[in-house]
Amino acid sequence: MNVLVTAGPTREAIDPVRFVSNRSSGKMGTAIAQAARAAGHTVRLITGPVALPPPADVSLVRVTSAADMLAAVEKNLAWCDWLIMAAAVADWRPRHPASHKLKKADGPPCIEWEPAPDILATIAPRKKPGQLFCGFAAETRPLVREAMRKLRDKNLDLLALNDVSQHDRGFEADTNALTFFDAAGQRQPLPLAPKSVCAAQLIARMEKLHAKKI
Ligand code: PMT
Repeated sequence: MNVLVTAGPTREAIDPVRFVSNRSSGKMGTAIAQAARAAGHTVRLITGPVALPPPADVSLVRVTSAADMLAAVEKNLAWCDWLIMAAAVADWRPRHPASHKLKKADGPPCIEWEPAPDILATIAPRKKPGQLFCGFAAETRPLVREAMRKLRDKNLDLLALNDVSQHDRGFEADTNALTFFDAAGQRQPLPLAPKSVCAAQLIARMEKLHAKKI
């Protein structure tokens, strides 16, 4: 399979030296790219700014903002059989990033916000028959309800829910605990495990979904 994976955070510019971002380290998405490669798939990884070494045998595209990531996903969409969106993409961005560094002497800036592009929502209507899309849900409360909503609204085949309110899972941790929800309504909670193990479980689940579809 041709597997397109996204990882890491995006950065949205406030001015030439400042940005808004989030705590994603890229570990989860990178582990998925490695697990897909280890399972014999051809992998392209689109990553926001992370401090991880590039995985072996995986073609890497580095991006900065949500708009960059959307463009890179769109460019690779026709190529991929599976899209796995583990990146923590910004929901909001400054509407008018300053072209010069904001001066402290001018006082706290008043930033006007606009929605950043929602990558999955943008491409969901373009899903071709046979393609599989997997999204993540990073939640701190009403976990299951939000997961089901994202699965439906973003036209996903699989959603991996992680509770990001605990220090041993989700953002930055080396471990995670995923619950899979599929479009047929099946729910599968998995125990806390190294992200490499979670990633291998996710790839195995995609392989099962693929086998069911053909
Ligand atoms: O990188 P790590 O430190 O290892 O942390 C891993 C992780 C917590 C970032 C990862 O496991 C995870 O949960 N990634 C998704 C984070 C997220 O943005 O979740 P969300 O619930 O806000 O978004 C739902 C889905 O829509 C995600 O697949 C996301 O990639 C996608 N999305 C979100 C916003 C946006 N503008 N466009 C999108 O496509």
